[in-house]
Amino acid sequence: MPGKKSPAKGHYEELKAKIREHDYNYFVLDRPQIQDYDYDQLFIELRKLEEEHPEWVTADSPTQRVGGAPLAEFEKAAHRRPMLSLANTYSVEDVKEFDERVRKFLESDKPVTYFCELKFDGLACELIYENGELTGALTRGDGSVGENVLSNVRTIRAIPLRLHKAAPKLLEVRGEILMFKKDFARLNEQQQESGEMTFANPRNAAAGSIRQLDPRITAKRPLRMFAYAPGEIDGLRPSSQSAWLETLNELGLPVLRFAEWKTVRAALENGYVPEMPLAALCQGGDEAVEYYEHILKLRHQLPFDIDGVVIKVNSYPLQDRLGTVARSPRWATAAKFPPEQATTVIEDIAVQVGRTGALTPVAVMQPVRVGGVTIVNATLHNQSEVDRKDVRVGDTVIVQRAGDVIPEVVQVIAEKRPASAKKFKMPTHCPVCNEEVVLPEGEVVTRCVNTFCPAIINESLKHFASRRAMNIEKLGDKIIEQMTAAGIVRTYSDLYKLDRDMVLSLERQGEKSAQNIIDSIETSRQTTLARLIYALGIRFVGEQTGKSLATHYKTLDAFLDTSEEALIEVEDIGPKVAKSIMDRLHNEEFRKEIKRLLKNGVVIETPKKVAAGKQPLFGMSIVITGTLPKSRDEIKDLIIALGGKSPGSVSKNTNYVLAGDEAGSKLDKAQELGVPILDWNGFQKLIE
Ligand code: IVH
Repeated sequence: MPGKKSPAKGHYEELKAKIREHDYNYFVLDRPQIQDYDYDQLFIELRKLEEEHPEWVTADSPTQRVGGAPLAEFEKAAHRRPMLSLANTYSVEDVKEFDERVRKFLESDKPVTYFCELKFDGLACELIYENGELTGALTRGDGSVGENVLSNVRTIRAIPLRLHKAAPKLLEVRGEILMFKKDFARLNEQQQESGEMTFANPRNAAAGSIRQLDPRITAKRPLRMFAYAPGEIDGLRPSSQSAWLETLNELGLPVLRFAEWKTVRAALENGYVPEMPLAALCQGGDEAVEYYEHILKLRHQLPFDIDGVVIKVNSYPLQDRLGTVARSPRWATAAKFPPEQATTVIEDIAVQVGRTGALTPVAVMQPVRVGGVTIVNATLHNQSEVDRKDVRVGDTVIVQRAGDVIPEVVQVIAEKRPASAKKFKMPTHCPVCNEEVVLPEGEVVTRCVNTFCPAIINESLKHFASRRAMNIEKLGDKIIEQMTAAGIVRTYSDLYKLDRDMVLSLERQGEKSAQNIIDSIETSRQTTLARLIYALGIRFVGEQTGKSLATHYKTLDAFLDTSEEALIEVEDIGPKVAKSIMDRLHNEEFRKEIKRLLKNGVVIETPKKVAAGKQPLFGMSIVITGTLPKSRDEIKDLIIALGGKSPGSVSKNTNYVLAGDEAGSKLDKAQELGVPILDWNGFQKLIE
């Protein structure tokens, strides 16, 4: 039947559309509608269909985000229009002066409408869409010539490979590539676990990931993007910044939501919630100043780093009249926030031993306040970092905190170095067990390799019990240390032999807390294959790899019986990781320990696959308020897992408000809008 689609092809197209929509919901709207597991299944099915029908595959298929081999270098390419930079200002006074200059230039005594946005702390990038298809992505470079990083940018799932609507002939759109703080923290954890270098802050991580010559590595980095400025365009004429962002939103590109300043202010005053407008249309300089001040206060609540706000004249005809001077537009200014750095003195350099035996030097400093919190410790990473920065005990240093990141020493103030300042030298013996340490040739991380080192045992147990591993909620770090010191726990499986009396025998242990510990160990017995694999702490096997292995092998036995050749075939697993896994799997003690875990009652449940249409809360929006039997996060996770969503505020689109004790304004709002209210029992019935 020429011209007619076969049912199989139709299903294939539907599957692609579904995956694109989930990517959009997750990465652009920040509103996931599906569990990771179910998403992975869709993806696996798509891959299978494409293997059977390679002739169907087009460049905009979700599977084609990573294609091609590593590059030798990036190609240089000229920007059709230069990428300008912004004049920087640093205070409220400067913002007022900017407004005065604009009004003077325009000879206007009426307030100018400003479009105020966040100044994202990432790296600028220009996307090029030709007839709706993503055909280029250039870094800023020197503003005239950038580098083509298309193969990397294609891996960013927030960026559509094809625009959603009838697209103009040419659309160049500029924006910022960045990493969310939570994704960054996770990435660094994984890097640390796998013995690879960690990044100082989300911006470095984003920039490093884009400069990768191997797109397969970039694909594993959780990058995001926000679009904000036009480049060359053919076939579309936006009249203002606000109209431009609306157009970008319709085309499926990630942009900040915006509203009139008064609306945004009301939202900001309630604190950050996803989906709230963070850009604002401000009438006149005074409102722009208010915007700056409000965002300054809220900056740490945002899910990503910003280093200021950008204030732009909203009207494009007015922007054209104002023009450009010395490579910066007269119509915009970047109002930066004061830097979050402080000066303090290093009193000591301590050495910590981690789960993998890695020795990490940590600067112990005189307490100092940076960005609203007091810090005393800063990581120095390893000996070669200490040498590079030449940090010594007694030095006065500048420390910095970027978002939620571990504080770091930026630099030593050389003039303030006392004559007595001592150079740091990594110990030759483990500070915890006193065994000799090793520094393998070509590596920077010194390690303790004594499997009986109490530090390694304690840290391994802490990892095993942690939230994303076995999730033994009440088993805190201190308790673990007490248990190993008392000799009642030595290996993971020992945890599942504990009874209440054994816990009670620990010092300062009360009946209630002992029972809580036992209960939470009990609950953790029921787990998933992915969690268990991750919990076992195999080197280079982070949470993500644990999930890939579980998805691939499905059962613990299949995983335990695998071979190195078979492992390489698994998604995300390279030779280094495969070798490390095989090392463990060949280790008799490791296999015995797994047997003991099962014997002591650990049970692996198979994740149940709920079809999208059969999820009881599919498409529903349920707002949580008040005190309930479970934590808000847990309930929210449950709602999402069952196909619903749980935004932070009540609107006419809310299906239910789940109200616990002491519910406040959200309950009032629900009553006002006539939104049905559920108590805990009602909610239980709904999800049954
Ligand atoms: S507009 C001509 N908007 O700031 C103005 N830039 O110095 C074009 N940036 O390299 C840029 N957030 O990387 C604009 N909301 C925003 C921005 C933003 C961050 C960066 C951008 C650029 C630098 C300008």
